[in-house]
Amino acid sequence: MSEITCTLGSFADVPKDLLTQIDRLEELFVVTPEKLKEITDHFVKELERGLSKEGGTIPMNPTWCMALPDGHETGTFLALDMGGTNLRVCEITLTEAAGEFDIIQSKYRLPEELKSGTADELWGYVADCLQQFIEYHHENEDLDHLPLGFTFSYPATQDYIDHGVLQRWTKGFDIDGVEGKDVVPPFEAALRERNLPIKLAALVNDTTGTMIASAYTDPTVKIGCIFGTGCNAAYMEDCGSIPKLAHMNLDPSLPLAINCEWGAFDNEHQVLPRTPYDIIVDKESPRPGQQSFEKMVAGLYLGELFRLVLLDLHQNPDCQIFEGQNISKLQKPYSLDSSFPAAIEEDPFENLSETHDLVQNKLGIAATKPELELMRRLAELIGTRAARLTACGVAAICKKKGWETCHVGADGSVFNKYPHFKVRGAQALKEILDWPADKGKGKNDPIEILPAEDGSGVGAALIAALTMKRVQQGQYAGIRDPEAMLKLCPPVKKA
Ligand code: GLC
Repeated sequence: MSEITCTLGSFADVPKDLLTQIDRLEELFVVTPEKLKEITDHFVKELERGLSKEGGTIPMNPTWCMALPDGHETGTFLALDMGGTNLRVCEITLTEAAGEFDIIQSKYRLPEELKSGTADELWGYVADCLQQFIEYHHENEDLDHLPLGFTFSYPATQDYIDHGVLQRWTKGFDIDGVEGKDVVPPFEAALRERNLPIKLAALVNDTTGTMIASAYTDPTVKIGCIFGTGCNAAYMEDCGSIPKLAHMNLDPSLPLAINCEWGAFDNEHQVLPRTPYDIIVDKESPRPGQQSFEKMVAGLYLGELFRLVLLDLHQNPDCQIFEGQNISKLQKPYSLDSSFPAAIEEDPFENLSETHDLVQNKLGIAATKPELELMRRLAELIGTRAARLTACGVAAICKKKGWETCHVGADGSVFNKYPHFKVRGAQALKEILDWPADKGKGKNDPIEILPAEDGSGVGAALIAALTMKRVQQGQYAGIRDPEAMLKLCPPVKKA
C-alpha cells in the first residue's frame, strides 16, 4: 500500500493525540485494493440490475443517442449547457475538416437562488440567456429554426431523444414541480414566449456528450465520465443487452448510449465504506438517501467532508484542534468547496505556509504546524478516496463489457483541477484489474482516462447532428416526430 501513504514522510512534530486522530482518519478513509475489488464486483451487478426489466438502484437511462461520430459530421447547432454551476450557450459549426469545429460561446452565472426557486423562474432564466445569445450574435438576422442540443445533466427518463422526465434533482438542486415531469414542454414554452427560432433536437446528459465529443477525435473512446460537481458516466451498450427495452424489438446489434447515473450506486449501503461524515453529508442534503456514491466522490461534497472532519476534531475532547480560535466560519455548511482541500494538497512548502495562509484567510483560523499537517493528510485522504472509488465505476463498466483496453473521455472540475486525481485513479484501476507492475501510471495504460473534448458544447451539437442523420436515413428509434426533425436538416439560414 505504499502508493497511498502520506507524502509528508513523517509526522515528527505532531503531538500524540493528533497522531491518534490521523490514524483514525486513515482507518476511515483508506480504501484497500481488496475493498476496491469488492466494490467493483458489486458495481458490475448493479449496472446489470439497472438494465434489467425489474430495474435497480442505478437508473441506467437509455439516451437514444445511437451512434458514435465518424468525424465527418457537419452543420451549425446551438448547445445549451445547464450543468450545475454555470449556464453556457454555444453555437457550434462542425466543419468539413474531419473532427474539427468552430465555436462561439457565452457563459451566464446560474444564480444560487434559482436552484431552490420555482420551475417558471428556472425556465424563464434559461430562455432569457438563449435570447440574449441570439440577439447578440445574430442581430437583425432572420433565422429559421436552429437545432439545439440541450445538455441537462440530471437523471431523466427518455422515451425519445427530445424528451426527458426528471427522475430527481441531484447536485443540491431543489426546484419544486419539476421532478416526475417532462422538462421539455415548459422549456419549449419559454422559448415560444420569446419567439426564439430554436428547435430542441436532443436532450443530452453531460456524460453522453463527453463520450461523443471525445469519440469525435479518438475512435477508441468507449466511455464518458464527469468528475465534477457531480459524478457520473455513460457508455455505449448494444440494444440486445438491455432487457428493459426488449419489448421494443430493436435490432440487438444497434448501439445505444446508456447514461448510468452511477451517483446512485449503493444507495442501500451494502458495500461502500461510509464514514460518519458521509452520513452527515447525506442527512443534511436536500435529498437524503439518494446519490450515496456521488456524495462520497463528487466536487460538491469534498470540501464539505473536509469541513465536517475538522469541526468534529475541534469538538473532540481528546484532541480539540483550533483551541481558543473563532470557528464560526468553519461552522457554516458548504463554506468550503473542493478547491480548498485541492489547494492544500498543492502547497509546495515543507512548512505548509500556503496552507497556513489559506486557512487564515478563508476561515480566520491561525493553525499550528501539527494542525496544518493533519489538514494536509486529511486532504490527501479525501481526494485519494474519491479517485479510487470512482475508478471502481470505470472498472465495472469495462468488466461488464469485457473491454480490456479503451479510452475514457473525462471532464469536470475534480478531474481537471484536483491534484493527483488522474494518477490515483490509474493506480486504483491497476489494483482492481491486476495490471502488470509497469502499468497504472496514467499514461499508456490498457484503460486510460483522458481529458475530454467539450462534451456539453461540441458533444451536444454532435448528438443533434447524429440524430438528424439517423432520421434522414429513416432510423426512427427514439424519435418522437420524424417529420419535425427532418425539417431541421440541414439548418436553414434565410438571407
Ligand atoms: C449528477 C447528475 C448526472 C450528471 C452528473 C455530472 O450525478 O445526476 O446526470 O451526469 O451529476 O454532472
